[in-house]
Amino acid sequence: MRSNPFCVLPMSIIFGIEGTAWNLSAAIVDENDVLAETTATYRPASGGIHPREAAQHHASHIGKVVRETIKKGGRNIDAVAFSQGPGLGPCLRTVATAARALSLSLNVPLVGVNHCIAHIEVGRWKTQASDPVTLYVSGANSQVLAYRAGHYRVFGETLDIGIGNALDKFARSVGLPHPGGPRIEELAKEALQYIHLPYTVKGMDFSFSGLSTAAQEAHKKHALPDVCHSFQETAFAMLVEVTERAVAHTGKKEVLLAGGVGANMRLRQMLGMMCEDRGIEFYVPEKRFMGDNGAMIAYLGLLMFKAGYRTQVPDSRVDPDFRPDEVVVKWR
Ligand code: ATP
Ligand code: FE2
Repeated sequence: MRSNPFCVLPMSIIFGIEGTAWNLSAAIVDENDVLAETTATYRPASGGIHPREAAQHHASHIGKVVRETIKKGGRNIDAVAFSQGPGLGPCLRTVATAARALSLSLNVPLVGVNHCIAHIEVGRWKTQASDPVTLYVSGANSQVLAYRAGHYRVFGETLDIGIGNALDKFARSVGLPHPGGPRIEELAKEALQYIHLPYTVKGMDFSFSGLSTAAQEAHKKHALPDVCHSFQETAFAMLVEVTERAVAHTGKKEVLLAGGVGANMRLRQMLGMMCEDRGIEFYVPEKRFMGDNGAMIAYLGLLMFKAGYRTQVPDSRVDPDFRPDEVVVKWR
């Protein structure tokens, strides 16, 4: 730890590694800023993500990514944080092995963190949001979360695949390059009509698999821009409905958007309108903090390190199904 000239409390410096899926990313943060970050992205030659290939990518790049990050800002590191889950098993194991080795070689503690909570905490750090309902939408994940009584509770989530994977799956089936989300967003702007597609909200949960298949069917009869537009309108309305109901239920006054699908301007517009109607604040972090990034893992590691969390090596096994509500939150 080093001292902070503006504050009597010592500053902590944490090294974090993310690698749950495509992105391998390492970063060093302190309370104020990201001191260094290095990313290497796995891009499959064709189709979607192959877990073992992604893990091989991470294994062959991790040495360089860690060394470069240390070179850019690696002084006085207090702990090494890593994504313990959820994510793809082979990728998680590669990153955890590197994190254990680094913590041993630097002789500092290890802090295993939950990837979903890291998305929320980096959003709270990088925006004015203090106690939001978070809509976390990425390739593999789609969840509505909020803090209550010592846990981040999942108020609603996908019953099958994440919204990003649903968009990518549809895009692939109509011959669009991967990742499909941004291409679908562009094409949707040229639409002339809305086509009815299945809207599936069950209780507080949603489902996207049927929507993706129905969109493929619809494309046999309708123009691609119309189907892209209708896919977005239907899927995003489902997400906004559940987010709004979580806001009504919890009484929270803020909504935070997280995850790679949060780059979508139409989704932002729809959430923004809902928040405006309810007279609550809507926060969107800078794009580099929305998709998977090492800084978010390092920052949650910092909060947890300061609150006394330490992960002993025998407890550092990864959990591909690690749920955010399993974590007892002592840093808030
Ligand atoms: P996680 O491990 O959290 O599931 P991920 O590996 O899916 O993350 P992210 O960067 O969070 O990575 O999200 C990638 C997803 O975001 C892809 O499915 C991609 O199609 C989608 N996406 C990116 N930009 C847009 C956009 N403008 N509109 C819709 N979807 C988008
Ligand atoms: Fe993520």
